[in-house]
Amino acid sequence: AHRACAQRISHWMRDCGFDEVEIDAVGNVVGRYRPAQEGGKYLLTGSHYDTVRNGGKYDGRLGIFVPMACVRELHRANRRLPFGIEVVGFAEEEGQRYKATFLGSGALIGDFNPAWLDQQDADGITMREAMQHAGLCIDDIPKLQRDPARYLGFIEVHIEQGPVLNELDIPLGVVTSINGSVRYVCEMTGMASHAGTTPMDRRRDAAVGVAELALYVERRAAQDGDSVGTIGQLQVPSGSINVVPGRCLFSLDLRAPTDAQRDALERDVLAELAAIAQRRGLGYKAEQSMRAAAAPSAPAWQQRWERAVDALGVPVFRMPSGAGHDAMKLHEIMPQAMLFTRGLNGGISHNPLESTTADDMQLAVDAFTHVLNQLATETP
Ligand code: GLV
Ligand code: MN
Ligand code: MN
Repeated sequence: AHRACAQRISHWMRDCGFDEVEIDAVGNVVGRYRPAQEGGKYLLTGSHYDTVRNGGKYDGRLGIFVPMACVRELHRANRRLPFGIEVVGFAEEEGQRYKATFLGSGALIGDFNPAWLDQQDADGITMREAMQHAGLCIDDIPKLQRDPARYLGFIEVHIEQGPVLNELDIPLGVVTSINGSVRYVCEMTGMASHAGTTPMDRRRDAAVGVAELALYVERRAAQDGDSVGTIGQLQVPSGSINVVPGRCLFSLDLRAPTDAQRDALERDVLAELAAIAQRRGLGYKAEQSMRAAAAPSAPAWQQRWERAVDALGVPVFRMPSGAGHDAMKLHEIMPQAMLFTRGLNGGISHNPLESTTADDMQLAVDAFTHVLNQLATETP
């Protein structure tokens, strides 16, 4: 499904009138619409085309299709801008199959660690095997690193994935900053034993240890007001109804508006994990699988979105992003700013009920076009 999606996007990019379209070594779909004159810089934009299991259809894809719609209009009007437009459909952002994540945007900033290729998915298939099977040229991944001097900056349109814009009845939101995050893949080990005969005070139940940690994470994150913490995966491998869990695999996802606040949350959660294990006679492993710094928007780029939203007659509403985005990676090498569109159904996301309206998406296309026109007047 992933490869078919990449093919489909690449064909639609050609239909839109992009001059060059390719699927690169890490699986990104890249379309380039050339500048008026050779040697002109490029505006980089896009979002991811992978998805969480049983997710919605807008998360990521919206940020690919909005700039594609803008390029289609430029092409139809036979119009070139003083800068080129490079739209990237990032191959992997969600961190579903392997521990490593941001594989697509990471490759563009030279942050693809070859050691990741040995990571295995749930079926024991390594990332290397999966990429080779997909026909990707792994050796070429380092060549994908972009030279920031050749770009104006990075912008990304994304569905909000939360309730804020919906509750305020405002169609667009200008992102001020993306929360910092850290993820761990963990294992708690105790002793599997008979559920009928092991007295309650002699158990070393790995799953109950994780349950206790989950309650702590909930309490500790809430204490900050704007931090969030989630144990999204919790498994008892080969568990049975009549066996005290001897092993429990779980994940940790911690986020906060600043790196310092995230670090304090992380310190407390890891300390509590150690204390729970000690008290319950359990062992544990916690492997960090991702760490992304908070990414404040570049002021000049945030202002371009604000001017665009204002010009459409939409109230200019500024908000932070609780979700992670490819923009966090590009942030490490070039200025970036994001625009959110309102979600329906209470803004739910990572759920098939995720939705938005054609009108709101059109406003995103119009705001994007406005930013292109602003850049055209600014760019010599
Ligand atoms: C991506 O959707 C994330 O924020 O986890
Ligand atoms: Mn997502
Ligand atoms: Mn997303």
